[in-house]
Amino acid sequence: MTSSTSPNEAKRSFSNFYAEPTPHGYLLEMNRLGYQIAEQARQYCVTAAEILAEENPGWPIRMLDVGCSYGIGSAFVKYGCTFEELASFFSYRAPEDYAACTAAMRMWLNVVPPKIEMGVVGLDVAENAVKFAVDSGLLDCGIVKNLESEELSEDEIAWISGCNLLICTGAIGYIGENSFDRILPHLGSSRTDSSGPAAVMTVLRMFDIAEVESAFNRVGMEVRKVPGVRLPQRGFADDEEMQGVLSVLAEKGIDPEGWESHGVYYADLYVAAMPELVGKLVESMMKSDNERSLFASHVAVASAKSPNELTLPVE
Ligand SMILES: C[S@@+](CC[C@H](N)C(=O)[O-])C[C@H]1O[C@@H](n2cnc3c(N)ncnc32)[C@H](O)[C@@H]1O
Repeated sequence: MTSSTSPNEAKRSFSNFYAEPTPHGYLLEMNRLGYQIAEQARQYCVTAAEILAEENPGWPIRMLDVGCSYGIGSAFVKYGCTFEELASFFSYRAPEDYAACTAAMRMWLNVVPPKIEMGVVGLDVAENAVKFAVDSGLLDCGIVKNLESEELSEDEIAWISGCNLLICTGAIGYIGENSFDRILPHLGSSRTDSSGPAAVMTVLRMFDIAEVESAFNRVGMEVRKVPGVRLPQRGFADDEEMQGVLSVLAEKGIDPEGWESHGVYYADLYVAAMPELVGKLVESMMKSDNERSLFASHVAVASAKSPNELTLPVE
């Protein structure tokens, strides 16, 4: 691995899994790697939704999940599912036949009432993953686009303009400034919320958020890193991926000791909102982190001798 390796060259791509019609293969592989970033981010997304509801009483939350894959963010944030529940549903109960699988997922969602009443719009370049998320009822609307190079249609703009909460977990790095420049001028623009929209993003430590931050600044929103919150994403796929990531981190002057050196990717948590709201968001995120079991993510670190040994957070 040379010193000119880019973060995206170091990171293993799973795009072959997102091309499958159902999430069986993806969840099996993610389970093997101790994937947990979307579940780790859930409480912060919920906190942001609660704050938006508090600031704008009576106005429903509509979430835009940027890089939504199979609608995982909706399963976690709206329905309160755990990764373990999802993985075991797709291992033991959901048939692989597409129609039967989406029907089984719809049936499950019918008996799991939403934890938060919200509409969910998903955006992803992976057509099959988005189709599954819509057909199974996880998303109210799916946008299949690569906004790094493509423009939004009028209909897609209309959906985004009704959203007031943007979440992006595990996708910054693939999704950058161009996409946010196309989304943000429309986010929440057809709403009358007094607070403006809010965003919750997890960003792997090896990726730089500066350009995405500039896109938020261009629409008057401020981006803040939440102090003291660092979330495990997944175990490295193999030693080659780990060595590649460690050399990218070394090149950037980021010390992996106690974090990635244990064989696990780590992400920092960022929020964005208008200047009047962003401080409240950060404070609530820090409070929310203090209230959860403090040792949760450190249990994951300490025990992560191999990806399979990652423990999910205790809530
Ligand atoms: C690691 S997955 C994260 C999925 C989900 N947010 C989660 O936390 O589990 C990254 C997602 O970003 C999507 N993606 C990659 N490049 C993209 C692009 N340019 N535009 C939209 N989505 C993209 C991939 O298809 C994939 O679904």
